[in-house]
Amino acid sequence: MSIMGSLTHFATIVFLLSWLVSIQADELKTSQKPCDFQAIFNFGDSNSDTGSMSAAFFPAILPYGQTFFHEAVGRASDGRLIIDFIAKHLGMSLLSAYINSIGTSYRHGANFAAGSSTIMRQNKTYFDGGTPFTLEIQIQQFNNFKTRTAKFFTQANKNSYRAHYPKPEEFGKAIYTFDIGQNDIAYVLSKVGKEDSQELISNIVEYFSKQLQNVYSYGARRFWIHNTGPIGCLPVSMPIHNVHHNSTLLPGYLDQNGCVNYQNDLAKDFNKKLKDEVLKLRTVFPNASLTYVDMFSAKYELISNAIKSGFVEPFEICCGYHEDGNHVYCGNKATINGKEIVTKSCNDPSKYISWDGVHYTEAANKWIANQILNGSFSDPPLPITHSCQITH
Ligand SMILES: *[C@@H]1O[C@H](CO)[C@@H](O)[C@H](O)[C@H]1NC(C)=O
Ligand SMILES: *[C@@H]1O[C@H](CO)[C@@H](O)[C@H](O)[C@H]1NC(C)=O
Ligand SMILES: *[C@@H]1O[C@H](CO)[C@@H](O)[C@H](O)[C@H]1NC(C)=O
Ligand SMILES: *[C@@H]1O[C@H](CO)[C@@H](O)[C@H](O)[C@H]1NC(C)=O
Repeated sequence: MSIMGSLTHFATIVFLLSWLVSIQADELKTSQKPCDFQAIFNFGDSNSDTGSMSAAFFPAILPYGQTFFHEAVGRASDGRLIIDFIAKHLGMSLLSAYINSIGTSYRHGANFAAGSSTIMRQNKTYFDGGTPFTLEIQIQQFNNFKTRTAKFFTQANKNSYRAHYPKPEEFGKAIYTFDIGQNDIAYVLSKVGKEDSQELISNIVEYFSKQLQNVYSYGARRFWIHNTGPIGCLPVSMPIHNVHHNSTLLPGYLDQNGCVNYQNDLAKDFNKKLKDEVLKLRTVFPNASLTYVDMFSAKYELISNAIKSGFVEPFEICCGYHEDGNHVYCGNKATINGKEIVTKSCNDPSKYISWDGVHYTEAANKWIANQILNGSFSDPPLPITHSCQITH
């Protein structure tokens, strides 16, 4: 056979093989019907808070919410969050905060996430930047929600509850989503040089695991767990907004995108330990599906490809004043060097990745959601619609 002939032959075999492999992958995804999720229960921090802190403490104000809701709704963005795109993708209405008592429906689940939340217990009040709604409390709120709705459904007039609450049998089939840890990493960062970061992170992940086991004991079986994002790429961490922070001159302090390496390294340590823990939980709970979603990589991909994806540079901030190390957060006012600073949003938030220096814009959240929903950042790599399949 000529060289060309065998190359063609070889190419045909490779083609056939890859065709077979792709058939198998497709079969894995579509041989089973999509999961019958009827509800979402979400736990987390400001990355997925849809109104908890705003309902519990001071009401949120514009320009937060301006893009999609045209009013402040307690989301830390100009519009929708990743959890909103998840709900939409699963054909459900947007999740209401559990604590928001006014005009809310919980037909498709409830959201317990609250801004500033941590996995670990806090030693701070609201006025020091803390929240009482740590993960452990959020799970007790869920427990309360489940117990009380079950009680309603045993009552004679249960039909009046059907429109507003999940049915008792829907809890075991619901998807339980988690996005928490960023504020715990921020705490570890504040202790660098004073305490052993590795030990702090191990304790945090262990406590996270304990809470996952708690929510399992309350009936959760389908887990969708986000790891933590690249905290060192948040514009407020970037030296460009902190000119007095002169460690920027040290080699290796920044990566090629201008993100702070040692901060991202702590987030990566957390993620590695979290993934190990999720793998361990699969053996403890053979009947549960536990999806680990690499949010760090999805967000980092956006930051690395900002311009190519139609965004401005990733360190640009749409709303807020962050110059010369002075930070005035979006929605606030301050006087700096005798000059009054009133923060406003930029003309076109859809061009920005960062909304306020800490949180992402709706446009960025949508981009990230599109990446993660089909399972390309998940372990196992199943689309969210099929993530209840047990592959272990
Ligand atoms: C908690 O706060 C108290 C009072 O401010 C302080 O003395 C204590 O060291 C703090 N503990 C931790 C673990 O941060
Ligand atoms: C870095 O910071 C130190 C202390 O704040 C200061 O003394 C020093 O001049 C700074 N170096 C540069 C290159 O800015
Ligand atoms: C897993 O589910 C099956 C079928 O529902 C049940 O028979 C079995 O006891 C469960 N195993 C565990 C470890 O819960
Ligand atoms: C998932 O969706 C993203 C964004 O549309 C796309 O780039 C990627 O190739 C998709 N991955 C898979 C495995 O379908």
